[in-house]
This record gives sequence, structure tokens and C-alpha cells, in this order.
Amino acid sequence: MKLTESVFGLLDGKEVLEYTLTNENGVSISAIPYGAAVTKIVTPDKNGKLENITLYVTNLEDIVKHRPYYGASIGRVAGRITKGQYTLDGVDHQLDVNEGNNLLHGGPDGIDAQLWDVEKVVTDTEGKLIFSYEDPAGKNGFPGNMKLKVTFTLTANDEWVIDYDAETDAPTLFTPTNHVYFNLTGDVTQTILDHELQIASEKHGTLNGENLPTGKLEVSAGTPFDFSKSKSLRETILSDDPQLKSINGLDHPFLLKETEDAKTILFDPESGREVKVYTDMNSIVVFSHNAEMDAFHIEGEPARVHAGITLETQTLPDAINHPGFGDIVVRPEKAFHSQTTYKFGVRK
Ligand code: GAL
Repeated sequence: MKLTESVFGLLDGKEVLEYTLTNENGVSISAIPYGAAVTKIVTPDKNGKLENITLYVTNLEDIVKHRPYYGASIGRVAGRITKGQYTLDGVDHQLDVNEGNNLLHGGPDGIDAQLWDVEKVVTDTEGKLIFSYEDPAGKNGFPGNMKLKVTFTLTANDEWVIDYDAETDAPTLFTPTNHVYFNLTGDVTQTILDHELQIASEKHGTLNGENLPTGKLEVSAGTPFDFSKSKSLRETILSDDPQLKSINGLDHPFLLKETEDAKTILFDPESGREVKVYTDMNSIVVFSHNAEMDAFHIEGEPARVHAGITLETQTLPDAINHPGFGDIVVRPEKAFHSQTTYKFGVRK
């Protein structure tokens, strides 16, 4: 395992480094401490050609200014919280909202917008980037001083393992994710419409006009949301179903089944690349990059409509306001730990 470093950009006049772990197969993962974010992931295609498979925002100023979430660690709570409100232990809480009346991705000053400390541990067989950050009580309105750790491990078996660890000194909410966009073609001028997706799920959540979960989980069989068998994304993303058409694609949570196998598999028939996702969280939010982002560039190109797809593992969004969606309360008595693994491979 090899670790290299280069200067990614300047933040308040100080250098922010980009770290790259590369294993014996040439698979590499690059990350920056700003947002504890993965920037670039290089994997071979079916002919052994090594290419980047993320939407890679190369300019730190753009990340700071536009907060695009690409590759970043997201929290304290991934997704939206209706009106930024919740009740815990009989007490009503109002969080700082940042998308209309609602809170999105941790609020106006989320963990994706912080400079984390980094520790590097490299052995023959694996490399770790351990990011840590203390999120003070009151930030974005959340109670509890939190000690957060996000560890990226690259293994010899082409896995990117993300461990999330957290402690708090008062009851609070926590369900993080990573917001990497994949484009397995290795070419950001292509869309992901012909990628195939499989999800170990029978139910998906529906959204209201503010992209908030309605609180209902619908049976996916017989609808465009049925990914129980691998199928092309094209028909679903371009479907006339009002849930999809109104937002130009997918931005929906899927309730994951209990299984030791991969919970989600993304496959690109053209390059042969696949990503298998394993997680202990109960859902995956699939967002198909439904608008063009022209305020910043990804590797010199505008981030086109459907240029990438996220596979965001988390507890079902707005869980604190919907009974049965999962427990996202973290208390001082018990540290939080969760793990998600993205395993890269090819089908020939
Ligand atoms: C997704 C979210 C989308 C959008 C995106 C960030 O996770 O569900 O609605 O906000 O993040 O551009």
C-alpha cells in the first residue's frame, strides 16, 4: 500500500493536502480533510484501464463556496429534517434550517464544511485515513458536544471501508453518510443512465413537494422503483411517474433488507466496472444528479444532468419524525459506530 500527498488548495492561506492511497492492483482513493471527503477513486475497467469513477471537484474554493457535498462526509444528520424540528425526551428542538423551512445535510454549517484533522496509518496490506473533528453543542442547533471520527480504509481487496464513530455528552441526533457521486464510465461527459442498479429492497420512501419524506414506504414491485433485480437506470430516471418526473430522476430512500450479501450493486455494462455496497444502516438514498451544476467544474467539465449517482447509506431520512424509520438518537452512555463498504470490481 502506498500513500502520497499533494497540495489540493488553500484555506485561509493554509495548505489543504489531498492524500492518495494506492493498493497493489492500482486501485486508489484520494481524500481531503475539508469535509472528510473522498475526491477521486481510480479503478480498472474490464480491460485493465485505470480511470477515476467519481465526480471530482478539483477546486477547493468551489467546494468552500458552493458546498456541493460531492464525496463529503455528511451530518450530523444526512438528508432532510422537516422544519428542522424534532422532539426528544419530551423536549421540542428547533434546528437551524438551510433549505426553505427545512434542514438539509446537517444544516447551514454541517460536517462537510469543516476542516478535519487527519492521521495516516499505512501497512503492507491496507491504508487508513482517520479524520477527526469535534462538533460543538449548538452548532446548527444540535445539542451535545460531539467527537466525530470518519475512517477511510483502502484494503488489498479493492474495498473502501468507511467507519463512522461518534461520542456525545448530551442526547443528540446522528446518522451520517458519504455523498460520493459515481460515474463508472470513467468519463464525466457520459451520463449514468445506462448503468444498472440492484438494491436488496422491497420498499421505497415517497417524497412530497419539498423533497421531504412523506413518511410512507411503498411496495416497489410493479413500479419503476423495483430494483430487486439488476436493471438499467434509464427507464426509472426518465419515467413519467410523478415521483420521478417532478424532480427529474431519483432522490429516494430505499429500505434495505437484512442480508450478508451486497445491499446494492451498481454496474456499468460498457466499462464492466461494478461497485458493491455493504452497510449496517437501514437505507440507501439514491440521487441521480438531477440538475446541471454550472457554477463549478468537475475535472474541467460542467457537472451535467445525470452525470453521476450517489448511493448514500444512512438511517431512513427524517427518521426522528417518522415512527418505524429507525433510531438516530445518540446518548452519552453509548458511542455510535457504523460501517459502510464500497467494493470495486469488474465483470468481463
Ligand atoms: C441529496 C439530496 C438531494 C440534493 C443533494 C445535494 O442527498 O437528497 O435532494 O439536495 O443531496 O445536491
